[in-house]
This record gives sequence, structure tokens and C-alpha cells, in this order.
Amino acid sequence: MKKVNNIDILKFKENDSITLYGWVSNIRKMGQISFVDFRDRTGFVQLIFSDKINFSKESVLKVQGILNKRKSPNLNMPTGNYEINVQNYEILSISEELPFEIKDDLNAKEDTKLKHRYLDLRRPKMYSNLWLRHNILRSSREFFHTNGFIEVETPNLSKSTPEGARDFLVPTRIDNKFFALPQSPQLYKQLLMISGFERYFQVARAFRDEDMRKDRQPEFTQLDVEMSFVDEDDLFLMMENLWSNIMEVVGYKINSPFERMSFNFAMDNYGCDKPDLRFDLKLLEVTDLFKNTKSDIFQRESIKMLKVDHAISSKEAKILEETAFQNNAKKVIFIKVTDSKFNENSLNLIIKKELNEIIKKYNISNSTLIFVADNYATTIQSLGSIRTKANEIFSYANEDEYKFVWIIDWPLFEMVDGNISSMHHAFTHPTKETIKFLDKEPLKVMARAYDLVLNGYELSSGSIRIHDPVLQTKIFNILKLSTEQIKNQFGFFIEAFKYGVPPHGGISFGVDRIIMILSKSKSIRDVIAFPKNANGIDVMSESPSIVSNEQLKDYKIEQKK
Ligand code: AMO
Repeated sequence: MKKVNNIDILKFKENDSITLYGWVSNIRKMGQISFVDFRDRTGFVQLIFSDKINFSKESVLKVQGILNKRKSPNLNMPTGNYEINVQNYEILSISEELPFEIKDDLNAKEDTKLKHRYLDLRRPKMYSNLWLRHNILRSSREFFHTNGFIEVETPNLSKSTPEGARDFLVPTRIDNKFFALPQSPQLYKQLLMISGFERYFQVARAFRDEDMRKDRQPEFTQLDVEMSFVDEDDLFLMMENLWSNIMEVVGYKINSPFERMSFNFAMDNYGCDKPDLRFDLKLLEVTDLFKNTKSDIFQRESIKMLKVDHAISSKEAKILEETAFQNNAKKVIFIKVTDSKFNENSLNLIIKKELNEIIKKYNISNSTLIFVADNYATTIQSLGSIRTKANEIFSYANEDEYKFVWIIDWPLFEMVDGNISSMHHAFTHPTKETIKFLDKEPLKVMARAYDLVLNGYELSSGSIRIHDPVLQTKIFNILKLSTEQIKNQFGFFIEAFKYGVPPHGGISFGVDRIIMILSKSKSIRDVIAFPKNANGIDVMSESPSIVSNEQLKDYKIEQKK
């Protein structure tokens, strides 16, 4: 079976005899003659069959033919100057009628495509996504290897780590006990630092039973890193160098060092902790300008404004408003300014003085002003969501640009549903300046944590870790873990802290998200070979699925009817 790859026909001369293997991608008939687009992993070649053919699209063939120059070349194909006049062929496998056409711009339902994922993966775009994934992981591995990191696999059958999401549990036959699939290798990588490996990385699977979004999967891949004897600057430098390598794979030269922005600045100016900095639309602070306002609507704790320099139709305004409502805003006010003047409707007349001040202060001539007036948290969050949505509608961001930013200076804790919880995770080191607030005012404590954000996506998060067992226990206590819970969940971890722990820190990147962004895909599912659908289900293998009572008996688990 001496296969010539489709792309390699370019190495042959006209009139050479060539043997190809591949799939019939398309058939066009002209009288007796059939033109076939023939596909293999390297691309397409045009075949010409002069006699009647008896195979269908997506059948697998072995063909032998003569290389000829095409009279009308196809410049969209690397092999488009040539064609093969087939002399002999063998059908290796016939394809039945396909459930959907195999082409990139097809509008078939996602679940139909996922059901036959192996067919959907035949599309050139899917090929290039998976090749990009492969090449980026390969270049990352090479980078880590060059810099003295060791790749270590950590268990998938493990104990649950508190990372915020629900665990996937795995029953065992041991005394009704369960494993949990890891939400990340967090504890293990820290233990590897205690073991003295100093520089660890892993292309690790992580599992989280959480609400799905277009950038989330229940099972996903992390590029997980941990380093000993480093501070933030050392780690940022190493990771920026890693990114320089990764971006080279897509032919993009990055500017480093990356911008650093405090969490508070990001929230205040962009209304989110993962701002897309490819466009400079900031949330402008106008609360003070309304301090003597007669309008009820504007008598609020916090008023911010977006100034967009184009008109917004009422349909577009409705979409933006809807986004804000989903983020708790009760009202969104749109005001159109033309030649520095606004329409004098009843609301605008009440706030006429304030509007004129705004127009003067921001030198506005032709813009649409979008206001939210509410409590601070709602104002920034809802206006931030409008900022993001407006970019989706009006495409402010340059699709070919990549803007990295480190988000730093995070609070260590936040309140979630009345409970104190870690903003990153419980192993994050407090800052030297604010550690003194731990006992009495924990919400004032800042973290040595950082996220790397790219084009509005959280690529990764990490932190410098606690390496003192007393401090670690204290953090668990603040998080209201009882002595019993600490012992049960983290006993082994705290025990390890007794035997010489290097100061250490790390980070973990979401591989699927990286590839989604760099391949300009709309969903994380487009860069994973066999993903779950939007409801977390594998529609191809129909899993999760019911297991037999016999199987459950082994685990002493009974199913409720
Ligand atoms: P974190 O929880 O932020 O940190 O996860 C790291 C990165 O993983 C990606 N990610 C996901 N990707 C796809 N689907 C998901 N459901 C999903 N959840 C997270 C994101 C995220 O930034 N152990 C810490 C890291 C550390 O401190 O070193 C951790 O797991 O891109």
C-alpha cells in the first residue's frame, strides 16, 4: 500500500503514474465524465473518471492515474493546477447516504452533527482546529521541556478539591465510598512542589459538573503549571515567553510584557474581570454630575455611561437592554446626541442640565449615550454586559488582534449568598500588606492571585500559594470549615506541609478556550474531538446512560423508580 499523499502530487511530473487513497468528497458529472474532489488528510485533488462510476460521496477509494495539468486551474486549492486522469480504481468502502453534507458552511443542527461526530470531523475546518490544538500543545511541551519542567500525570480517580463547581462522583466497591474526578490537579501539583520537582506542567483533564456556556465543557483540558521559588514577576515572565511560543504557531508576534490591570480597575472601567481590550469603550463615571438631579431614575448610588459613536436602532437597543436586565438592571436609558444636541423629551428635559454638562465634559457631538443608574454592583455588571453585547452586534474589536492582560490585585475573599468564600481558591496567599486584616476584616485582605485574559476570555488563573500550614489552616477556618472537615478533606495535604515546603506558585490555562480563540471558532465544542452538547450530553454514544441494577448492586447503590 504505497500511498502518495494528495498534497505530494506536487512533487511529481506531468504524465507520472500516481496511486492515491482517500475519500470522495464531491462528484460533478458532465456526460460520461465524472469530476471528483478527492480528499485525504493533506487536502484535495481533482480526479477525472472517463467511464461510468458506481460509488457514492464519502466512499473510500484506491485510485491509480496519470498526473496532468488542468486547463482551468482552481486557485483555491494548493493542488489546483493539476488533476489525475484515473486509469484504475478500487472501491475500498462504500458510503451510505449521509445524514448531512460534509462542508464547512453547512447549517445543520448541532446535535445532528454531534451524533455523527466522526463525519463532522471530516470537515476541513475541524481538521485545522484539531491540528492547531496539536501544534500548540506540541510547542508548549517543547517550551516546558526547554525550560526544565517535568510533565507529571496526576490521578483522575481522586478526592474532591474545593474549586467551586460540583464534582463528578465515581462510586467504588469499597464500603460505599466514592472517588471524585478532579476539578483540577491543584493539590497534587502543590504536593509535587513539596516533593521537590520545582517545575511541573501537565496537559491535564479536569471535570466540573457546572452550568454549560459556550466556553465551558464538563470535561476539559488544562495546561497546568506549578513552580517553586518564584514570585509573580518570575511566573509572568515565564508564561509570557510560553505565550510568545504559542502565538508563533499562529504566526502572531506578541508584545510583552503584557499589560497588568487591577481587578478593581477592570470592574470599574469595563464592568467585568475579563475585559476585551481590543476596543476602548469604557464605562464613564457620571454619578457626581447627577448629584442634584430632579429625576427619580437618576437618584441612585452609582451612575455610569457608555458613549458609542454611532446610532443604535430600537431593535438593537432592545437586545442591549435585555442583556442588562439579565444582569439585574431595572432600567437602561438611551439618549441620542446629534450635533451636540439631544431630543427634548420629558426625561431629557428633567436632566437637561446634567446632559449638557456631560456633552461639554466629554466633548460629545454625535453619539448614543447609554446610562444605567443603580447600586454600584448592578451598574457596572449590567453596563459591562452591554459593552460586551454591543461588540457582538457592532464588531468594534479587530478580529485579527490579540490583547493580553494580567488581572491582578484580587480580593482574597468574596461573599457568595451570604457566605464567605475564596475568590480563587483556598490555597492562595494573602498579600504581605493586607494579611493583618485576616482575623477581623477578612474581606479587606488582598490575594497574590492573577488571571490572564485574552480578548475578553479568561484564559487562565493562578496564584502564589500558601506554604505555611498554620496560615493554611487559618484560611480553612475563615472559610468556616470545621476541624473535622479540614481533617477529612485536607488531612493529607496539611500533613505534607509539616515536612519542608518550598514557597511556590502556579497557573492553569484552559486549553480548549485557547484553541477556540486562536482558531476563531464560535464554540469550545468546535475544538474538542468528541465534546458534550450544550446540555452536557454525548449524543453520539448517548451518554450518560442508564446502567443495569446488576452493576449498581456492586456499588450497593439503588435507583429510585
Ligand atoms: P480555574 O478554575 O480558573 O483555576 O481554571 C483554569 C482555567 O481552566 C479553564 N476552565 C474551563 N474550560 C472549559 N470548561 C470549563 N468548564 C472550564 N473551567 C475552567 C479556564 C480557566 O481559566 N487550579 C486552578 C489554577 C491554579 O490556581 O493554578 C484552576 O483550576 O480557562
